[in-house]
This record gives sequence, structure tokens and C-alpha cells, in this order.
Amino acid sequence: MHEKTIVNPWPRVLPPEPATSQKLALGPIVPMLRAAEVASLEGRHAAVGAFNINFYSQAEGILEGLRRAEAPGILQASRGANKFQGGPEKIAKMAAEAIKDSKHPLPVCLHLDHGDDATAIECLGAGFGSVMIDVSKLDYDANISAVREIVNLAHPRGISVEAELGELSGVEEDIKAEKSTYADPRKVAGFFEKSGADALAIAYGTSHGPSKGAGVGKLAIRIVDESYREMGANGLNFEHFLVSHGSSTVPQKLVDEINSFGGQIKSAQGIPMEKIEAAIKAGIRKVNIDTDLRLAITATFRRYFAENPGIERGSPNLAGIKKVLDEKPATIDPRDCLGHIDKELMRSSPRGSDIEEIMGLVKARVASHVEYLCRAFGCAGLAEKTEGHSLEEMAASYSRQ
Ligand code: G3H
Ligand code: 13P
Ligand code: ZN
Repeated sequence: MHEKTIVNPWPRVLPPEPATSQKLALGPIVPMLRAAEVASLEGRHAAVGAFNINFYSQAEGILEGLRRAEAPGILQASRGANKFQGGPEKIAKMAAEAIKDSKHPLPVCLHLDHGDDATAIECLGAGFGSVMIDVSKLDYDANISAVREIVNLAHPRGISVEAELGELSGVEEDIKAEKSTYADPRKVAGFFEKSGADALAIAYGTSHGPSKGAGVGKLAIRIVDESYREMGANGLNFEHFLVSHGSSTVPQKLVDEINSFGGQIKSAQGIPMEKIEAAIKAGIRKVNIDTDLRLAITATFRRYFAENPGIERGSPNLAGIKKVLDEKPATIDPRDCLGHIDKELMRSSPRGSDIEEIMGLVKARVASHVEYLCRAFGCAGLAEKTEGHSLEEMAASYSRQ
């Protein structure tokens, strides 16, 4: 086998010695992203998957996929997810419960996705190991100041901060942008240094949602490449990481399955896996996936009702899911279908309830797609290479910087 011996081509920062080999339940994000960086420098290019969660069985499925791939992983909750579940503490409790119930043995971080400052502050004391401040609509200096404020509150707690440079297009519940604006690679190192952010989402042509359209043909992997080189030249690469949002592959098989069972998803187009792989090779260390799991869940729901006619009779929970599927053929947002179900049930194991069977199928579908993605992202097997730092140890290391 061809062995590469480079460990760090960049001069300044070397990875710190592992403080402990302990593997923790909900922990920090930096050690897992650093494990991906070290693997990449050794020639096994890797990024960690960050998967959006809204309800228990989705989280459980993600954990099962991570376990099968022996991958560290990120469970991330958007502002929409926080609203759906009733706030960061409820989300954190749901994630912790899924970890406990499945006796998940590998490193997991809970991250706030596309947060604002108020939600980020709420997350700081709630069990999140990382928060994103998405103020990329502001100009460069105002973006830096807004991020710096949260960094000053987060780092003393060992919590890391993700920011965004450039703007992604796409429409999600809390994110609306008509056009994307690419990130400027020459500004990346300065952004890290001035804002104190640990991770930076750089806009390079990906977009949120299932219809990535023309942007896919204009993906600018060179933006990742140039940004990462600039980081390396400034010795930033072991503590600072690039993030790819809007990275779902939108598998055509899932779209066809949904449409064959009454759904109406039009102009679906994802990022081809080889482009994600190229972006990882160029320096991406965290890859965000929400839409693919929404599709897997919607396909599961639609197939279940098609294959079990009348199963919803006598079950208000199932009947409510079916009603939304019938009335909204274009929806792929599971929160539409699950909004009527008691929130306690939505954040704990469905065992013994009328949704146990359908949620078991959701878990299995989500698990197999997450396992596939982790293998493609190169993070399979990285769990054992992830240092088991606690948030307290992270806080101590931030205070030494
Ligand atoms: O990037 C955004 C995620 O897809 C979250 O979407 O805000 O609708 O939960 P959401
Ligand atoms: P997708 O819509 O491509 O899954 O992107 C998700 C995302 O970027 C979450 O922050
Ligand atoms: Zn995003």
C-alpha cells in the first residue's frame, strides 16, 4: 500500500497531545474535526458529517449510522428545530436520551445550525458543544464583531463557534437567500484570527434544499482550495476548520420513490458525491446534511401508508401524518407531518406507541444513509482517532490560546 508520511506541511501549530483517552457522550466538536484534518494530512481525506435533527427517531437513526461506520458525528439543530421542540434544553435532552438509550459509544457533538445570537446564547448552557452564528448578510467587519461577541461567551465554556462567509442560496424555514455570494478566500485567515471562530462555512456554490439547480454546475471548489491553503500558510489548520453547507446529494432513487407514492417533488438536484469528495480533498472538514434525511423520512412515510392501506384507522397520530402527506404532496419537511403529535413522544423512544413501527422504519432508513455518507466522507473509523476531550478541557485549552 502507498504510505504517506506527511503529518503537517504547515509550520506553526501542531496538534496537542490527547489529554485523556476517555470517549464522551455529548462533547466538543474540535477534536473530531481535528481527527479529520490529521487523517487528511496523512492522505486519507476526511470530513465529519453533521446531520440535522428534529425528532427522536431521526437522531436515533443518525447514531446507528455513525455506530456502523465507527464515525464521530455531529447532531445539529436549526432554529426551526429548536422552535419545533420547544428550545435548546429540550433538544439537548432528546439527543442525550437517544445516546443513552442506544448506549452510543462514540464521540458526538450537539451543534446549533444557522443560529442567531439570542438562540446561541440559550444553547451555551444547554448541553450544546458548538454553535453557529449565521450573520453572513452583514458586511465583513460587522460579521466579525457579531461572531466575536459569541466567541467571548462560548470559549470559556469550552464551546466552539461556527461562522459563515459569503451567502448560500436556497429557501429553508429560517434561511432565505435568492442568490449566492461566494466567499473570498483572501479573507478567510483574517476572519478566523479576528473573530476567534473555530469553524467557517464558506459559500462556494452549494445551496440549501432539494433543488440545487444551476449552482451545481458552478461549484467553485477552488474557493475551498485557496481558503484552506491560506489557513495552512497561517498555521491555522489544526484548530480551525472549513464547513460545507447545502451538501445533500438528493438521491434520485429517494425522489422517485416519494413521487411513486403520491409525492410531487419537482426539479430535484443534489450535489454529486464526487464534488463533495473533491471539496473534502480541497479542505472541507464538516459536511452539513439535512435534505437527504428529510427525503429518506418522507419516502418511508409514503411507502408505509401505500403498503399498509387503512393502517391509520384508530390511530390519530398515524392519521395525522397521512393527512399531511395527502394534502401536501410537495412537502419533504417531516415537521409538517409530525406537528400534531405530542412533543414528549417526539423527543423520546416511540416504543409501545402507535408510531413505533413507522419510526422503526425511519430509524433504519436514516441509519443506512448516514452510514453510506460517513464512508463517502472518509470519516468511517475516525471515532477511535478522536481525542476524548471534555468541554472543561476545551475551555482550559481556549484560555491558554
Ligand atoms: O440549512 C438548514 C437546514 O436545512 C435546516 O433547515 O431551518 O428548516 O430546520 P430548517
Ligand atoms: P442540505 O439542504 O443540502 O441538506 O443542507 C443542509 C445544511 O446546510 C444545514 O445547515
Ligand atoms: Zn446550512
